[in-house]
Amino acid sequence: KDGAKTEEKKVLNVGTEATFAPFEFMDKGEVTGFDVDLLNAVAEEAGYEVKIDNTGWDAMFAGLQSKQLDLGMAGVTITDERVESYDFSHPYFESKTMIAFKDKVDIKKAEDLKGKKLGVQNGTTGQFSAEKVVGKNSPDISKYETAALMFQALQGDNVEAAVTDIAVALEYQKKNPDAGIQTVSDDKAFEPEYYGIVFPKGSELVDEFNTALNTVLDNGKYAEIYKKWFDE
Ligand code: ARG
Repeated sequence: KDGAKTEEKKVLNVGTEATFAPFEFMDKGEVTGFDVDLLNAVAEEAGYEVKIDNTGWDAMFAGLQSKQLDLGMAGVTITDERVESYDFSHPYFESKTMIAFKDKVDIKKAEDLKGKKLGVQNGTTGQFSAEKVVGKNSPDISKYETAALMFQALQGDNVEAAVTDIAVALEYQKKNPDAGIQTVSDDKAFEPEYYGIVFPKGSELVDEFNTALNTVLDNGKYAEIYKKWFDE
């Protein structure tokens, strides 16, 4: 229609949980953030268009299982357990567990989580980190569907500490200077984590996206996006 030059790119369906600033969050009805910019750059490099929906965390994984989604981009940590059910790109971001807590609570290290009321986003590595310290079925852990609900619980004093990812905790602290939030990590208790783009098992996109991700890492595009979201 527009002449022979028009190239129809395949549109990939992407799921996310967009309450996880600065990686993905809603702004004027659009999913935005570091992950969005990175995914757009990588997809463009690989010759695809992406349609990103705020599916929610569990629905994202369900959509990958049923292959209704082509990929998930949600600050997803590459874990041994997830690798059994999903394929991941190469790591694109290093993270670790961070404890966010109110001024009046005394937490200096992971062990201090014991006996505290804890909030986590359900099914995330924050939950797994908290469980490592206080036990898997601890009644002290409240699990929230989204990261936003976890932070609301912290702000409203329904929990004394939230266990989440470092950059997200720091962003929340920065954006809510009057909330009286402190943050602490514990490198002895918690291992470094790496985020990957997540695909259905056996997806043919993995190799193409890895190649494109390498290009974006090499050609300065990644650095540009990083600077936009992490350097003030
Ligand atoms: N990195 C953590 C995990 O994979 C938390 C990710 C939560 N992401 C989100 N968009 N809410 O378990």
